[in-house]
Amino acid sequence: MPTGSQRGHDLNQSPIRGLVPYARLAREKGKDIYHLNIGQPDIPTPESALEKVRNESDKIIKYGPSEGLPALRSRVRDYYDKYQAELDTEDVLVTTGASEAILFALFATCNAGDEIIIPEPFYANYIGFAQVCSISIIPVTTLLEEEFALPEPATFQKHITPRTKAIFLCNPGNPTGQLYDKKQLEQLAEIVLQNDLFLIVDEVYREFCYNKKFTSVLSIESLSQQVIVIDSISKLFSSCGARIGFLITKHHAIRQAVIKYAQLRLCPPYFGQILALACYEDSEAYISAARAEYMKRRAVLYQGLQRIDGIQSYKPDAAFYNIAELPVPDTMEFCKWMLTDFSLDNKTIMLAPASGFYSNQTLGKKQVRIAYVLNQEELQDALHILHQGLLAYPHSTLKL
Ligand SMILES: Cc1ncc(COP(=O)(O)O)c(C=O)c1O
Repeated sequence: MPTGSQRGHDLNQSPIRGLVPYARLAREKGKDIYHLNIGQPDIPTPESALEKVRNESDKIIKYGPSEGLPALRSRVRDYYDKYQAELDTEDVLVTTGASEAILFALFATCNAGDEIIIPEPFYANYIGFAQVCSISIIPVTTLLEEEFALPEPATFQKHITPRTKAIFLCNPGNPTGQLYDKKQLEQLAEIVLQNDLFLIVDEVYREFCYNKKFTSVLSIESLSQQVIVIDSISKLFSSCGARIGFLITKHHAIRQAVIKYAQLRLCPPYFGQILALACYEDSEAYISAARAEYMKRRAVLYQGLQRIDGIQSYKPDAAFYNIAELPVPDTMEFCKWMLTDFSLDNKTIMLAPASGFYSNQTLGKKQVRIAYVLNQEELQDALHILHQGLLAYPHSTLKL
């Protein structure tokens, strides 16, 4: 039997992948599982956009332009006006989700062996994308005790080597819910300019900022030739399955390289683009309502976690995640146990062990990422189950 490639074998897997068989077994045993482990929003996709897709009457679903439908690119350009981004329609390229935009950004900026600096913990798939592009992630570790605040610019400077090509940020952050402000971005901008680097910023959670103002790096004029922004409708319009994202840059040569990669996959999904086009029409009311709902859930989660002794957490600024340190030695084992050995009224919870969000997986061993993508009542119930699970878990230091 022929063997597969080493690179396929070595590719990093999602941190929750290892828990999936246990979740399946739990379901087979009839347990209901509250999924706090994935960022799959439960808020309905805009109905008017779904209606547009249902009413599509084309007789042939043809290939479209590799860069995306002109009408969609132009609408997204207009959307960015509210973030003081001086964009032209050609600066916006439509991709198959933010995932493809990340991959294209890395392929277009880095050679094999290059390095990108990323504050950790970070979105776990960045590891796999870096592996596919044969580049190294140089982590700058941020700490729960400091609510995952962005380290001083000097810390980034220390990590720069002749192979450094970019600083990569997720703002607002998954898995931390941390938001970097204008001043911090401007400080990083100086480092990026001084060292002639790219600044790649994944802004897919931009619209979910609760108390503080969001600044897009696209508004920092001095950086216009260094910045690449990653965007998506997956979370923004609860449209994860539509597979529509965007890569936005004013750097002409990077755009040309990205378009060549885009031509290899021919075009982004047609129906997804029709949906996206309709989503951006009169989007403000929808976005505000979603933001208000996540904000209420954030309060439920924060208060619920505060009530459980032994849990260390904080109130995230943005996105719909936060990290909590649990009173257990190893959250991977605890999360497994919650699926295999614990239930309350035949219900249990699934959490994401946080070690997978660090490049050094010995970090975050006591932490979990919690996604608040359940309604408030379910979230309350899930927190109650977490509390009771911690009390019952044999290796927990939390006792009745
Ligand atoms: C920070 C971040 N970037 C990118 C993605 C991928 O988004 P998409 O569904 O648009 O590929 C996710 C998905 O969870 C994410 O959390």
